[in-house]
Amino acid sequence: MCKNKPSRANSDTGVEKYRETRQNGVCIIRGNHFYFPYSFHSSIFAFLKFALQMVDVLLGLQWGDEGKGKIVDYFAPQYKVIARFQGGPNAGHTLYVKDKKIVLHQIPSGIFHEDILNLIGSGVVLDPVILKKECEAVAAFGVPYAKNLYISERTNLILPTHRALDKASEALKGNDKIGSTLKGIGPAYMDKTGRNALRVGDILDKNFTSQYIKLRLKHQKLLDSMHFQEDISAWEDEFFEGIEFMRQFKIINGEYFINEKIGEGKKVLAEGAQGSMLDVDFGTFPFVTSSNTISAGVCTGLGVAPQKIKEVIGVTKAYCTRVGGGPFPTELYDETGEELRKIGNEFGATTGRPRRCGWIDLVALKYACMINGVTRLVMTKADVLDAFQELKVCEHYRIDGKKLQQVPYQMTKLTIEPIYTSFKGWNTDISEIKSYDAVPEAMKNYIHYINQFLGAEIKYISNGPGREQIIPIN
Ligand code: GDP
Ligand code: IMO
Ligand code: MG
Repeated sequence: MCKNKPSRANSDTGVEKYRETRQNGVCIIRGNHFYFPYSFHSSIFAFLKFALQMVDVLLGLQWGDEGKGKIVDYFAPQYKVIARFQGGPNAGHTLYVKDKKIVLHQIPSGIFHEDILNLIGSGVVLDPVILKKECEAVAAFGVPYAKNLYISERTNLILPTHRALDKASEALKGNDKIGSTLKGIGPAYMDKTGRNALRVGDILDKNFTSQYIKLRLKHQKLLDSMHFQEDISAWEDEFFEGIEFMRQFKIINGEYFINEKIGEGKKVLAEGAQGSMLDVDFGTFPFVTSSNTISAGVCTGLGVAPQKIKEVIGVTKAYCTRVGGGPFPTELYDETGEELRKIGNEFGATTGRPRRCGWIDLVALKYACMINGVTRLVMTKADVLDAFQELKVCEHYRIDGKKLQQVPYQMTKLTIEPIYTSFKGWNTDISEIKSYDAVPEAMKNYIHYINQFLGAEIKYISNGPGREQIIPIN
């Protein structure tokens, strides 16, 4: 910084050996001391202020259900705002509050923390019927849900006919069906990109009902062409009850809200739904969901500029699961897969469907780290592996006799053989462990190998569903 050689001054006083004052300079040297003028301080402040005005992201790196809800709940006290940026009620995020289980679908997982503001962002597709049920479930915990819940006026609405269209579309696909949660996600996002959708802000418009009828008629024509018949009048009654219920919430301009909070230096966490391998662009298309589940989705889903994103916290299970159809190279069809399902209680939080289980897929995980820019990893459900003598990790695929370490652009028409490296299991109950020092060596080897392979570090290990069951790694 102070490149100029200091001139000798006041040497006869003996008080100050050297002094250099640069009028426009960065520092002043008096004797052996450095003084920083005001301009330097203010630029440091400006830098710090900018550095603090950031958003962290927490998202799933696999096919969903990685334990995001639990991990958001764990990190929540560090944040002032938690915002969902995509997805809808297809998500099921499980939390344990006072030892009681709750599954959140659309409400951000910060709702149980009194001083956290929760935003349902513009990129979400929202079902008012499910929102009402969720709020009632939250209220049973004594939480005044309306106090800290904000909804962006740009958030798209899921209509009863979207659910019907989802059902009809899946039925038409037959054996090729996606295995959708049937919550109307695909059709709702199609109405967004098709520029037909109704949005939360529209419920405040006095013409909302006529807008609804117009869109419903459009949907009815589609349903007729798909020969789909179902009486949805009961669903519609619930829908309008849900719309009325929503009027109590703070319906706001989400992008100004979030950017103001960021500007005030309030820490924001963007909570992802689904997982990176279900991303509509980069997942195992067409067996994906209809939104951008990756970190880029934060920018479009919340109106946050890319340079505002700081930490990208990627959550992975210690093994792999998938619910619904689609490619899953490491899926196990044997008793090991069955055991993972049983011990891990791998049944969908939203639909109750059994989850398909298999070993961790490092090829897919490395890809997910790349497209998300993961800065920190969290590994969940490590305790589920306690019982296994041998563990495997997939470190490349073999396709047509060729070794491949990249995720192919389409996986459905390929026969993918996962090639594994084996590890000795730790065969110890880890669920009570609190510090990494107490972690069995065999587990440390497993973690170390994965870190090396991914070029990213696992910073936390979750060793049980409880809020306090987490082992930080320094
Ligand atoms: P999310 O959608 O990513 O929030 O995950 P889900 O809630 O759908 O599924 C994760 C399941 O695993 C839930 O039942 C959690 O309670 C549970 N869970 C989360 N972390 C752990 C863990 O470290 N160990 C065990 N055994 N269960 C966990
Ligand atoms: P969370 O947030 C696991 C899957 C469905 C289906 C595919 C498309 O709890 O991790 P959709 O209803 O979106 O049209 O379904 O995506 N899927 C999920 N799988 N966890 C989720 O959410 C999921 N959300 C959707 O099973 O295969
Ligand atoms: Mg889930």
